[in-house]
Parts: sequence; C-alpha cells; structure tokens
Amino acid sequence: MPLATADIDFLRDLVAKHSGNVIAPRQVYMLEQRLAPLAGTVGLGDVTALVAKLRATNDRSLSTQVAEAVTVNETSFFRDMHVFEALRKSVIPDLMKKNEKSKEIRLWCAACSSGQEPYSIAMVIREHFPQLANWKVSITATDLSEEMLAKSRSGSYSQLEVNRGLPVKSLVRYFERKGSHWNAKRELSDLIDYRRLNLTTAWPFLGQFDIIFIRNVLIYFDQSTKADILSRMRRSMRSDGYLFIGAAETTIGLNVPFKRTEIDATVCYRPCS
Ligand SMILES: C[S@@+](CC[C@H](N)C(=O)[O-])C[C@H]1O[C@@H](n2cnc3c(N)ncnc32)[C@H](O)[C@@H]1O
Repeated sequence: MPLATADIDFLRDLVAKHSGNVIAPRQVYMLEQRLAPLAGTVGLGDVTALVAKLRATNDRSLSTQVAEAVTVNETSFFRDMHVFEALRKSVIPDLMKKNEKSKEIRLWCAACSSGQEPYSIAMVIREHFPQLANWKVSITATDLSEEMLAKSRSGSYSQLEVNRGLPVKSLVRYFERKGSHWNAKRELSDLIDYRRLNLTTAWPFLGQFDIIFIRNVLIYFDQSTKADILSRMRRSMRSDGYLFIGAAETTIGLNVPFKRTEIDATVCYRPCS
C-alpha cells in the first residue's frame, strides 16, 4: 500500500528538521525505497509502521536514522576534474606562497559522503606537491551520515567505485588490493581527519580554513539555509581562502559574503574584502 499523504508530509517535515534536506515532490518515491530497509532493521513491518512509531515515541535516534537514510550520497573520485586541476595549477601554488611562514594549509571537505572527494584532494597533494611533505597539511572531512563517515574512514572501495573517476595510475600508486576491494594507503589517509557535522545546526569551532569544498549538497537545502551555511563558512575561512561549490550549484539570489572568481575552466568563490 502506498504511503498516506499525511505520512509523507510527516516524513518530509522530520527530514527538513533534522538535516535541512528538502524532499521535492518528485523525490517522494525515495522515502518508501530508502525507509523500507530501515523499518525492517528496527523490527517494523513497513514504512507506515515506522511513521506510527515516530509519531508515538518522538524517538530522536530513530528520527536521525530516518534523516540520514534519505540523504543522497552520490559521489565519485575526481568529480568535476576541473576543480582538481585548479587546485594543482593555481590554488595550492598560491597558498604555498602566502603561507610560506606558517607552512600550513588547512582544507575542509564538508559533506564528504563516502570519502572519494577528500581522497582525491589528498592524491593531488601527494602527487604534485612533494615539497609540502614538511608542511602541516590537513583535510577535515565531515558529513551528516555516520554510515558515510565509516565508509570514508575505512578507505576501502570496490572495483566499481574505483572505476568511477580514479585513473589506473593513481589506483595502483595510492591503493592496495585487499580481496575484492582497494584500500587507500596511509600516505593519503594520514592527511584526513573525519568528524560528524550537521551543516544546518551550529558547528563546533574548527579553526579557519584556506580551502573549503562544499559540493553537491547545497542543492538539497532551501535558499535561506544555503545563505546561512555559506555565511557561517565565511567565518570559518581565512580572508584569502577559496570556496568550491558543485558545478550545478550557484550563489545567485543569495546574499553571501563571497565573490565569484573563474580559475581556468572552473569557478570558485573568494571572501569579499
Ligand atoms: C551528493 S553527496 C556529495 C558528496 C561530495 N561532496 C561530492 O560532491 O561528490 C551529499 C552529501 O551531503 C551529506 N549531507 C546532507 N545533508 C547534510 C547536512 N545537513 N549536513 C552535513 N552533510 C549533509 C549527505 O550525507 C551526503 O553524503
């Protein structure tokens, strides 16, 4: 039996409250698809029973599981190659000049999903900047989903996953085969720290970053949530930092303290002075 309209509305409200993700009418089918397995895991017959339990108990942990289960986790290695080219050709060389004294570069990969994005950044650093070996370079990788963070931390990818965007040369250089999977080597994982962070609630002080990646997640928020997150990101960024959003995302119509800048074939955002 399809979900009742009142149950759909209840779930959409719950998800918006927990993760800020707006479930568009065309995505409603996803609720049933993603939540049926969760209902089974917690010993309930179907999604209608799951909603009944949520209504009756207001169970916070179950609500969180629901919100995480319906996020879109699509990602791949070197997604939108132009961004990684810009890092290699312009952004990191510029920061190496500016941060020569501190010998520190801090990156934040917000909404890292299953980790392909921070590992791609780590490969750019290891492959092209051996002179950074004695610098303090760190990538803080955060996501809402504990499940995605666990996968990222494991650094373990199937053949299908590595086939999506990872050049063979980088695969054999930076990953070790273990059974049917490929595991990231320490020289990549040593650069990355993981923590759970919900972008729509107050986040702890993480220090200031030189580069922030917040790609392919803003599309799931409403306009005021996007503006709020980006304004808070400005406060987490050094004044000469670089912000990357997804290729299909834009700040048009948002009043945010960043200006659009083109670097070769890609776009990034720099803090307004
Ligand atoms: C489509 S993936 C993007 C992954 C990667 N940034 C990329 O561009 O390939 C979106 C990620 O955003 C995360 N996400 C959704 N809502 C979030 C929130 N409120 N706070 C933090 N992460 C969130 C999801 O868990 C998911 O892993």
